[in-house]
Amino acid sequence: MSRADQAVQEFLDTEETKLHSLKAFLQIPSVSADPEMKSRVVEAAEFLKSYFEELGMDKVEIFPTGLHPIVFAEKHASIPGAKTLLFYGHYDVQPTDPLGDWVTPPFEPSIRGEHLFARGSSDMKGQIMATIFALESVLKSGELPLNVKFILEGEEEVGSPSLEGFIQTHTDLLKCDMILNPDVGMINKDTPTVVNGLRGLSYFEVRIDGPKVDLHSGIFGGNVANPANVLASIIAQLHNPDGSVAIPGFYDRVRPLTEEDRKMIASNPTTDEEFLEVTGSPMLYGEQGYTMLERHGARPTLDVNGLYSGFIGEGAKTIIPAYAKAKISCRLVPDQEHAEIYELAEKYIRSIVPPTVRVSFIKHSGGPAYLADDAPGLPNLIEAYKATWNNDVVLKREGGSIPVATVMQKELGVKSILSGFGLPDDAIHSPNEHLHLPTWKKGIQAYIRFITSFGA
Ligand code: BES
Ligand code: ZN
Repeated sequence: MSRADQAVQEFLDTEETKLHSLKAFLQIPSVSADPEMKSRVVEAAEFLKSYFEELGMDKVEIFPTGLHPIVFAEKHASIPGAKTLLFYGHYDVQPTDPLGDWVTPPFEPSIRGEHLFARGSSDMKGQIMATIFALESVLKSGELPLNVKFILEGEEEVGSPSLEGFIQTHTDLLKCDMILNPDVGMINKDTPTVVNGLRGLSYFEVRIDGPKVDLHSGIFGGNVANPANVLASIIAQLHNPDGSVAIPGFYDRVRPLTEEDRKMIASNPTTDEEFLEVTGSPMLYGEQGYTMLERHGARPTLDVNGLYSGFIGEGAKTIIPAYAKAKISCRLVPDQEHAEIYELAEKYIRSIVPPTVRVSFIKHSGGPAYLADDAPGLPNLIEAYKATWNNDVVLKREGGSIPVATVMQKELGVKSILSGFGLPDDAIHSPNEHLHLPTWKKGIQAYIRFITSFGA
């Protein structure tokens, strides 16, 4: 039996125990955005620490930060002079609302059909455990041909405020030859996927203030500006009729797509119909002149993520709201700069706000877009994927954002391999998030083949 097959067999023999451990991890509500869950986020870090200790890692440490801790673990190779692989992951999860839409509670993992339902099952506790279980099976079945390190943060879903500083001050600890970041997913369950591009992000809030309190709309309506009406008008001016973003300068640094880019993007087999199906929307919508796949991963966007004003309870209440708020994010592409995009957006919005109200802004997280198809170790992973799925690997530009890939490239000098076994319909960030277990199990086997491929 080959070294890889021995380790795969070890995994197949212990699958049930491993699924049990994943469920225990998913029971911990590590919602990084919720201050009330702070101690539960720590509990998730401690779960990982104990798991690593039982695995016999050479070093395991929890580093406190200004917000949620970072877990580091390391295992030395059985042979001297081996290469070092760093796995990144985040053990925090998104909030669960709207809670009433969950079929089973978000932190009571439940298997229905081929899926495991729980918050964080796909994004990304399941992905973290896939890397750890792969290492475990390699360790339990023979020699380890690589030094393996893990950096697992608890703040990704709130923009990783502590991570860049930590990486800057721990470059020796994190020194490596390869980085695998499994925080993205596959095109579909039969198509092993490597992501070679991510979009960046600029996130901010706009607040419009009018009267000092909510006013009776009969007495005052018609004589003061309504902040909700004003905000709606501002939002309506953020796009042009052709679907493009109306902020002056927004596209100035956008690198035009080459013929080669367009060909690569078109090699993704996902059809418009399949993409639409996942959304449940009546039809696709987007910037004219681009395909769905180009708009998904390679064109910038602006979207309202949340809107709040006035009376939102049951029934009717006649008021002019005192204020209105919108949360807005832009997905960015090379070579847009997130700080500059924020400045341009603020400047434009200020220029269209009428003098009848006051406007203020809150700037949230940001990060650049990322391009990489030459990360070290990628050919080994592609081989491992091919061997596991018996299918060709497809390259994909992903619409989501993982700013840490850029930070690691800058601070550690290593480009990240972007992978993972989530599927487009896993409902990440949504109610009823789930993980497709057969794909996840194949993924673990692929990571085992990847790790053992360095032995030859
Ligand atoms: N796992 C996602 C990133 C992702 C999303 C990858 C969709 C592939 C497909 C990650 O946890 C995430 O949600 N990132 C945030 C970025 C952040 C700065 C808050 C995102 O993309 O919204
Ligand atoms: Zn996420």
